[in-house]
Amino acid sequence: MGGVGNDTAPPNSFLSDKSAKVFVAGHRGLVGSAIVRKLQALGFTNLVLRTHAELDLTRQNDVDSFFDSEKPRFVILAAAKVGGIHANNTYPADFIAVNLQIQTNVIDSAYRHGVQKLLFLGSSCIYPKFAPQPIPEQALLTGPLEPTNEWYAVAKIAGIKMCQAYRIQYGWDAISGMPTNLYGPNDNFHPENSHVLPALMRRFHEAKVKSSKEVVVWGTGSPLREFLHVDDLADGVVFMMENYSGLEHVNVGSGKEVTIKELAELVKEVVGFEGDLVWDSSKPDGTPRKLMDSSKLLGLGWNPNISLKDGLVDTYNWYLEHVKQ
Ligand SMILES: NC(=O)c1ccc[n+]([C@@H]2O[C@H](COP(=O)([O-])OP(=O)(O)OC[C@H]3O[C@@H](n4cnc5c(N)ncnc54)[C@H](OP(=O)(O)O)[C@@H]3O)[C@@H](O)[C@H]2O)c1
Repeated sequence: MGGVGNDTAPPNSFLSDKSAKVFVAGHRGLVGSAIVRKLQALGFTNLVLRTHAELDLTRQNDVDSFFDSEKPRFVILAAAKVGGIHANNTYPADFIAVNLQIQTNVIDSAYRHGVQKLLFLGSSCIYPKFAPQPIPEQALLTGPLEPTNEWYAVAKIAGIKMCQAYRIQYGWDAISGMPTNLYGPNDNFHPENSHVLPALMRRFHEAKVKSSKEVVVWGTGSPLREFLHVDDLADGVVFMMENYSGLEHVNVGSGKEVTIKELAELVKEVVGFEGDLVWDSSKPDGTPRKLMDSSKLLGLGWNPNISLKDGLVDTYNWYLEHVKQ
């Protein structure tokens, strides 16, 4: 585990009382489910969890009643409306409104009901399209956003600012973490609207099952990307709950870049597809490089420890057990 100390937790800190009530919002998603696994592994015994059907976080009165009756001591906000470029372009109103509603309701109600500390999760899309690489926290609001997901990004930026505003005005311990591209159990393997890593895994798997001769992947494979296993993110979230109480949001990445080509070859190997991997270089490549600068969190003593290879093996095992063939 990367730096999540346990035996020496200061009194009143996150790790000092494993019976403290912790609300993990979005606990059935990729991120929320990993956080729940991590907290359970650490011995937390009093997690408060609600499915979307049980508690719609866009409904302010329901969120208020929930906090009133449950009174959690800590909140980790991993509930959000998430989606790819297509979904963002088709439902821009949902992406901005639903995310603003969820985070505004949860952050404000948590503060008013005496929550000790809250962690809000955003993503790397908050940064300007032409931010310096690797992207430092200070790049926030220094240039125009990537237009395809600006609705989502603007909501997430508002979440960061809301945490900062409540810290400044009320002295309340609200922090924000911005993870890089994540993968792992409970990822979305949908054939049309999944991220590159689960999409590659599904395609190689299906090609293996059908004994196809080749898998064609768009582009040249040259773009550089960063990936973090969601269990490492969960470790980082616990680390921040225990060790970070600053105003600024914090990047959470592996710091390790791979080309899409290296990634595809590794996924092919892990899945065990023995045909050819063919690159269709007539198709677009996307941004040449996207890497977060996570030196702030690393400097505080946190380290991710799941290699991409091990993480892919773990994810493929989960895929085989859970995704319908
Ligand atoms: N996935 C990534 O690569 C990545 C990278 C960086 C940051 N993040 C951040 O991590 C957070 C979680 O992302 P994720 O990938 O875990 O998403 P996810 O798998 O889609 O999970 C989101 C969860 O939020 C719940 N939710 C959505 N709307 C809700 C509502 N109105 N009321 C109650 N619950 C609601 C969803 O429940 P239903 O499914 O039932 O609606 C789901 O369980 C987001 O803030 C995202 O920006 C993700």
